Amino acid sequence: MSRHSVIGRVLLTFALFALLLSGCQQPRMSVLEPQGEAGQMQLDLVYLSIYIMVFVCVIVLAIFTYVLIRFRQKPGDNTIPKQVEGSTKLEILWTVVPIILLAILAVPTLKSTFTLAAKPPKAEQPVEVKVTAHQYWWEFEYPELGIKTAQELHIPTGKKVHLELTSVDVVHSFWVPSLAGKTDLIPGRKNTMWMKADKPGTYEGRCAELCGASHALMNFHVVAEKPEEFQKWVKQRQKPSSQPQTAQEKEGKKVFAQNCMGCHAIDGAGLKGPGNKGPNLAGFGDRDKIAGLLENNPENLNKWLHNPQNVKPGAHMPAIDFLKKKDLDALEAYLESLK
Ligand code: CUA
Repeated sequence: MSRHSVIGRVLLTFALFALLLSGCQQPRMSVLEPQGEAGQMQLDLVYLSIYIMVFVCVIVLAIFTYVLIRFRQKPGDNTIPKQVEGSTKLEILWTVVPIILLAILAVPTLKSTFTLAAKPPKAEQPVEVKVTAHQYWWEFEYPELGIKTAQELHIPTGKKVHLELTSVDVVHSFWVPSLAGKTDLIPGRKNTMWMKADKPGTYEGRCAELCGASHALMNFHVVAEKPEEFQKWVKQRQKPSSQPQTAQEKEGKKVFAQNCMGCHAIDGAGLKGPGNKGPNLAGFGDRDKIAGLLENNPENLNKWLHNPQNVKPGAHMPAIDFLKKKDLDALEAYLESLK
């Protein structure tokens, strides 16, 4: 095979791989394409450390190449070159240079760490959200707006959202690659961070700390809306139209009260039992996903209720397989009617 055709084949392989990998990119889920201020600040730090690493590599390789050529053994010359072991000058040089490089990296990193955890000033009217992680779902509470929801974090665009993060069981980590993160959620501790979305859109979020069997399935998403749209959502959540309309939905509400209220509440539906072990289901019918994973449709709801362990192994949700079909249908109709 000629040299040209080898190079041609190598290039072709690279091109195919590039094409293949470009398909991996999920829309709006990349740290390399930040969609807001916090994400941009974090990416800038990544670039800074890459620049420093490249700088170090180039200098070391240059010295290495120089030494290799300059100090090669010449034919007939058996003398040993001058030894530099214990040279004070060199010792100082390779101690001081890394310290300077680390300082260049550390100062902006520390500054950003504190800036990103600080509470935005009142004048900026940040939206306050308390995030509580559970195995394996997310609770979002807006204390100033009186809203409690799960799995879908609604935020207005162009405004800072200040998050207070904690966990009720094990350590989780809040990560919305294109907006901000990762910040740990630790039982008994409150961590804070803020994020901001410039443009409306749905941004995928993940748990970034191994927290059990369904860690990789602990998905959520952030829905960023124009401020007017966000206000509409807030109004709807504050005054949900959660009363059942049809006879089947009314029946479903009863089934819910008898079987589900121990763990789940539905704000605004008169169903605020003791239950807050599971997600608050207010507005369930409006959510995109069931359990943060399945498309929200009746078929998937049935799949989830029948065997949650199949969808999310280790979830605390029990299988609802003891209900009569009629009751289960009614329950599903009622849940999908919650707006
Ligand atoms: Cu929660 Cu991993």
